[in-house]
Amino acid sequence: MKTESFNSNATKKPRLLAILGSPNKDGLNAKMLSICTKAAEHAGWQVDTVDLYSKNIAFCKGCDACMKLHTCAFAEKDDMAEIIELLRACDMVALAAPIYWANVPGVVKNLFDRLRGVAMEETVTFPKALLSGKKYLFFTSCNTASPFAEIFGQTGGIKRAVHEFFKTAGIKCNGTFICTNAKKQKDVPEKLKQKISHYWEKQ
Ligand SMILES: Cc1cc2nc3c(=O)[nH]c(=O)nc-3n(C[C@H](O)[C@H](O)[C@H](O)COP(=O)(O)O)c2cc1C
Repeated sequence: MKTESFNSNATKKPRLLAILGSPNKDGLNAKMLSICTKAAEHAGWQVDTVDLYSKNIAFCKGCDACMKLHTCAFAEKDDMAEIIELLRACDMVALAAPIYWANVPGVVKNLFDRLRGVAMEETVTFPKALLSGKKYLFFTSCNTASPFAEIFGQTGGIKRAVHEFFKTAGIKCNGTFICTNAKKQKDVPEKLKQKISHYWEKQ
């Protein structure tokens, strides 16, 4: 009996949930995410991918029901139920989304909104994190070149917004990968490709 349960645990792969938050299927964010998922699979991880722009995700209604339910009250009415299940089951999230107005694209913000009751519980003091123990990787890009992307708050703005969601959910950042000067890049710069691959070689 003991041996059986040991074996089933030993064969269980860690799970990565890869979320694409860019409308460009062949864009820089899709490419960075693809490098990440291939490297993760090579490292023995099970990968599930969610392309947000091809999903049916209604706007958060701000009804607050999720604060009591610990899930979105309307999750079964669109694709949120599937995403919530994958998020709860994963060990790590890889989110790839371009910088729009120094922030995340609307679909990503709406995803965070719809996940409010899955991510955290309100208490009389600080919010209680409901997804502790998981990690996240964040991939992003912007047209502004470095160091202006940092100086003018483009990269800082999106990192703050993304970290706010994950930190509140109890999900720790394990790496941020930023491709600046995006308009001039035909492909992910070699250095960034190597940084992504190196991350997975250490896992
Ligand atoms: C609506 C919109 C807003 C944008 N806002 C910014 C911005 O604030 N700063 C910036 O440097 N680039 C901005 N960009 C450029 C995008 O960041 C760039 O197109 C993206 O990084 C390319 O990624 P992709 O190849 O995955 O689409 C914006 C683009 C769009 C479409």
